[in-house]
Amino acid sequence: MIKGKVVIITGASSGIGEATARLLARKGAKVVLGARREDKLKSIAEEIGKEGGQAVYQVLDVTRQSDNDDIVTFAKTSFGGVDAIFLNAGLMPSSPVSALKTDEWHKMVDVNIKGVLNGVAAVLPTFIEQKSGHLIATSSVAGLKAYPNSAVYGGTKWFLRDFMEVLRMESAMEGTNIRTATIYPAAINTELLDTITDKQVSEAMHGLYAKFGISPDRIADVVAFALDLPEDTTVNEFTVGPANQPW
Ligand SMILES: NC(=O)c1ccc[n+]([C@@H]2O[C@H](COP(=O)([O-])OP(=O)(O)OC[C@H]3O[C@@H](n4cnc5c(N)ncnc54)[C@H](OP(=O)(O)O)[C@@H]3O)[C@@H](O)[C@H]2O)c1
Repeated sequence: MIKGKVVIITGASSGIGEATARLLARKGAKVVLGARREDKLKSIAEEIGKEGGQAVYQVLDVTRQSDNDDIVTFAKTSFGGVDAIFLNAGLMPSSPVSALKTDEWHKMVDVNIKGVLNGVAAVLPTFIEQKSGHLIATSSVAGLKAYPNSAVYGGTKWFLRDFMEVLRMESAMEGTNIRTATIYPAAINTELLDTITDKQVSEAMHGLYAKFGISPDRIADVVAFALDLPEDTTVNEFTVGPANQPW
């Protein structure tokens, strides 16, 4: 059941996070939006409110542990608890390794890996104590296969596959009933390509997305499906993409 669930969404200011926030709110969830761009969060939350949904927002930089801790506290004070977190914030400045864009490598590690760890560390004590909770993360098809120009981005997303699966196994062994779902999207039309600074890679990716890209609403549907499952069931992996993309 989605109705009434309190769901924190990171990276809620655009793309997949925004689409998921809007859909879950329409289905009766109480959504807590986090990202860095406050103007975007504010207008999305206001629009959700106008449509009769319940949404609050807080500025969040996932690379800061304190911001992650604060948004969990904010969810509890706003809505009385936390049932799920969608660990979705991420960036993809793809480039060949030989270009040595080391600042971008480190940024991807900070947001795509450490940002998720920070979110998990913030919410897990609550989930353990209440013996329930749902952790949903956005990996990528680049977390399942190797792609040229995606050595570091793909590496951050492969990390999620291992981490989320071990988390699921340990929770089952520890009897805390924490569920996980890792989503592996292919080409989804969002602002993600804006983070690519390598001209050639940017052009190639824009061409690919123009040909194949589908709406982030499709990923929102998957998150909603995962959240809707009965408490005794986990579907822990979803590979989702355009039907006509060979990816
Ligand atoms: N689009 C695709 O084809 C695709 C495919 C596979 C996987 N993914 C994954 O899907 C996730 C969502 O991306 P998207 O496609 O929806 O792209 P997007 O529209 O660019 O959304 C990325 C979101 O992450 C947020 N973000 C970035 N850095 C952050 C930080 N330090 N702290 C908090 N929030 C941060 C951004 O918000 P602010 O800038 O406001 O902070 C934004 O809301 C990412 O993890 C991405 O790797 C996307």
